[in-house]
Amino acid sequence: MAWVTWSILLLHLVCHRVLGQHTAYNYGFDVGSRVKRQLAQPLRVVVRGEGGGVVQVRREIREMEQDQKLWTLYILGVSMMQYTDQSSPTSWYGITGIHGMPHQTWGGVQPTPGNKDTGYCTHSSVLFPTWHRPYLALYEQVLYSLVQMIATWWPENERQPYLDAAHRFRIPYWDWATYPPSGGSVLPMSVGGSPFVDISGPNGIQRIANPLFSYTFRPLNVTAFRQAPWNYWTDTLRSPTNTGAGAQSNNSLVALNVDQNQRSLSQRLYILFSNYGDYSRFSNNAWIPQVNNASYDSLESLHDTIHNLAGGGGLGQPNFQGGHMSFIPYSAFDPIFFLHHTMVDRIFAMWQSLYPESWITPTPANLNSYTTSRGQIQDSRTPLTPFFSSDDGTFWTSDGIRDFTKFGYTYTELATRPNTSSRAQAGVRRAINRLYGTSSPANLFLRELRSLGVKDNRRKMNSATESQDFALTGQVGAIFNGGLYREWIANIRVRKQALDGPFSIYFFLDAPLNDPEQWTSAPNHVGTLGVFAADKFGMGGMQMDGLEVTGTIPLTTALVNRIAAGELTSLEPSYVEEFLRARLMRRVLGPNGRVWDTRMVEGLRIGIASSTVKAPQSEDELPVWGEVSEHFELE
Ligand SMILES: *[C@@H]1O[C@H](CO)[C@@H](O)[C@H](O)[C@H]1NC(C)=O
Ligand SMILES: *[C@@H]1O[C@H](CO)[C@@H](O)[C@H](O)[C@H]1NC(C)=O
Ligand SMILES: *[C@@H]1O[C@H](CO)[C@@H](O)[C@H](O)[C@H]1NC(C)=O
Ligand SMILES: *[C@@H]1O[C@H](CO)[C@@H](O)[C@H](O)[C@H]1NC(C)=O
Repeated sequence: MAWVTWSILLLHLVCHRVLGQHTAYNYGFDVGSRVKRQLAQPLRVVVRGEGGGVVQVRREIREMEQDQKLWTLYILGVSMMQYTDQSSPTSWYGITGIHGMPHQTWGGVQPTPGNKDTGYCTHSSVLFPTWHRPYLALYEQVLYSLVQMIATWWPENERQPYLDAAHRFRIPYWDWATYPPSGGSVLPMSVGGSPFVDISGPNGIQRIANPLFSYTFRPLNVTAFRQAPWNYWTDTLRSPTNTGAGAQSNNSLVALNVDQNQRSLSQRLYILFSNYGDYSRFSNNAWIPQVNNASYDSLESLHDTIHNLAGGGGLGQPNFQGGHMSFIPYSAFDPIFFLHHTMVDRIFAMWQSLYPESWITPTPANLNSYTTSRGQIQDSRTPLTPFFSSDDGTFWTSDGIRDFTKFGYTYTELATRPNTSSRAQAGVRRAINRLYGTSSPANLFLRELRSLGVKDNRRKMNSATESQDFALTGQVGAIFNGGLYREWIANIRVRKQALDGPFSIYFFLDAPLNDPEQWTSAPNHVGTLGVFAADKFGMGGMQMDGLEVTGTIPLTTALVNRIAAGELTSLEPSYVEEFLRARLMRRVLGPNGRVWDTRMVEGLRIGIASSTVKAPQSEDELPVWGEVSEHFELE
């Protein structure tokens, strides 16, 4: 399996790391002053997007890697940004520091009273998807600028192809929900495979620190990062090997955990696209009292799970302290953050093309941020601080970035201009079926309809996947009734800070093994919901204490597999209720590695719900959900 290769590789790399620290690319001249000039900023950095009105595609990171010259420029650009003096607002530290720690002012945008101990990011808010959009555009703009400059440094006779590549540069995304290419992990090797990378730059081939592996603080500000382990972890870490200063990232563990959750993630995404046509429900994870049974999941909740999977912590290792990605205030420093959030923006953009009419309705903020106080009404004209849209100090608003192509980018699945013609929408639905539908019974029906003998290349992953699909294939008659079938989900609601740090809720059919290390890879693992929280200190002034959040875990595929195994007769409630009451188990893995009985987590509520769903009749359609009703609550 992919992660075994990872373990071996990582072992080799850990040894290597001890032998020598890698640094930035040596261009053969002092780049500092040129970078300074390139990034020389007016008083205000205006987020304008790139390409002078030209719209280019943001690509999946693995696809971008195939475009060798562009890839080289990307790696050199990210590396250069990371080596730019931390005091510069457009350095890695400057840009990533907007999100949470070190809770400092950016672009002169002052905190509102009482909010200086927070970052600018908006969470559990209707502005969650929109705030991150100009944030990504700003990051893209800075990188674009560096990439243009670096391209000019090749000798004249080699330069032109680099200049051409530089012009099509846009930031890549990491698709954590689709099947990875043959044999690989969902976590790309380029991100977690090695702390160094050999790069063929303008001054020849050199081995440099891999800027996608981690960010090294230069220096770590221990006045701002006062709390252990943040005050001695000088590099960003994923699934850290221990809590000490010598901790290393264990990316093979991250890869394992992401791979084991991929099917659950793709089902959640597929359901979000199919059944979350309302922006308020789709956009964020906050629990609202009038929530209905069909709205427990959200783009933000799905995004939270990736944060916890990438940061790790508690996930079966001697050390239970999570890495940077698991904690809201520290997450943006890890280079995987922007790859993840570009994927989140892509999901948002695809969703917009399917549901163009639905948008922000005025809603009170659930959390403080640098310029927002809890309870303040947020709407589509709320300034998305600190992102200036003009020199005069105006900020972008959600209305202003609804058409994302004004930032000069789009995604492969979408047209170059916002296009909601029914043909364009059908194209998006086809992409969703192809990329995220394969784990859903709905697609099984579709495949049966097409009597497809040939499998899609993207699905040739590992034997587990193959055998699962095989198991599903024999069951069409037991599952579908005239194109209708029943989907089952666990609806979860919990206090975000219930355990004073990030935690994960695991679901199993039958009792899990004692050792949490075995949980995700065990065949009885159904899915894991990550709750992305803060430690008490890092939470600062966000005041998340009372906030309740929601999420879901799809159960249908696991049930279908039990039908295939002869343990369950059908998906009808008369069978499934009894089956789940007896066999659906759950555990909570909290900060510090403590395993909690779910009954011990204050305010945690898990409801079992289902809906009749009409399977798509063609690739241009998504499943159509009926009303979702709850059957019972787990005790
Ligand atoms: C370090 O952090 C403190 C507290 O946030 C801040 O006042 C100080 O300016 C920072 N130092 C540097 C060099 O950025
Ligand atoms: C990393 O995680 C893998 C998978 O759990 C484990 O086998 C390996 O021992 C870990 N490596 C380190 C250095 O802790
Ligand atoms: C929208 O997309 C459709 C189908 O892809 C295409 O025929 C049409 O010209 C596009 N419209 C615009 C305004 O780009
Ligand atoms: C959830 O479903 C149950 C059972 O169908 C129903 O009684 C309840 O009113 C639903 N809740 C909401 C908020 O719609």
